[in-house]
Amino acid sequence: MSRTVLAIAGSLRQESSNAGLVRMAMRLAPADLTVVHWTRLGDLPFYNEDLEVDPPAIVREWRDAVSASAALFVAAPEYNFGPSAVLKNAIDWATRPLGQHALRGKVVSIVSSAGSTGGAHMIEQLSGILALLGNSVVNEPAIQIAKGAECIAADGSTTDPAIEALIATRLANVNAALPA
Ligand SMILES: Cc1cc2nc3c(=O)[nH]c(=O)nc-3n(C[C@H](O)[C@H](O)[C@H](O)COP(=O)(O)O)c2cc1C
Repeated sequence: MSRTVLAIAGSLRQESSNAGLVRMAMRLAPADLTVVHWTRLGDLPFYNEDLEVDPPAIVREWRDAVSASAALFVAAPEYNFGPSAVLKNAIDWATRPLGQHALRGKVVSIVSSAGSTGGAHMIEQLSGILALLGNSVVNEPAIQIAKGAECIAADGSTTDPAIEALIATRLANVNAALPA
């Protein structure tokens, strides 16, 4: 069984604090867990069912990366009280073809660096979507960082050691949720 966690940031911004949370997770992962950052979310075309007959190479690459992983780690901002479009688009691609999709049965874990809400609405909505898709959602301890861009750099460093402790505990919980 793969112990690879595929990690994505739901922001395309060069200095994204959520990309920083992904890099922090790579640095703090337990020894028996490998966190891999998939950085090409912005290269996926908008979902279009017409493309399903012969999906573009980037779509195959995304689906293969999801399939090869035991878990998905999502670090994403909240945009207008919900998930960013680029993130929802990637989830939509991963969930087709219906009935045999790449996300099926994966452990999924969501964290957020956002504005004043800390991403609470986004996490609630995305958790609900993924639970309905049959995923096992591991969101303890809650990681909803208000104004996170003020203390998390895109390179994964932070001025707040409490955030590192939360990420390390979350990864331990994801690890524990995976089959031995
Ligand atoms: C279009 C847009 C909508 C936003 N809506 C919200 C929101 O509803 N709640 C919130 O807490 N922050 C909101 N923000 C702030 C972002 O979540 C925040 O800037 C976050 O740090 C961006 O993530 P990044 O640093 O990874 O790029 C919004 C930002 C943008 C650009």
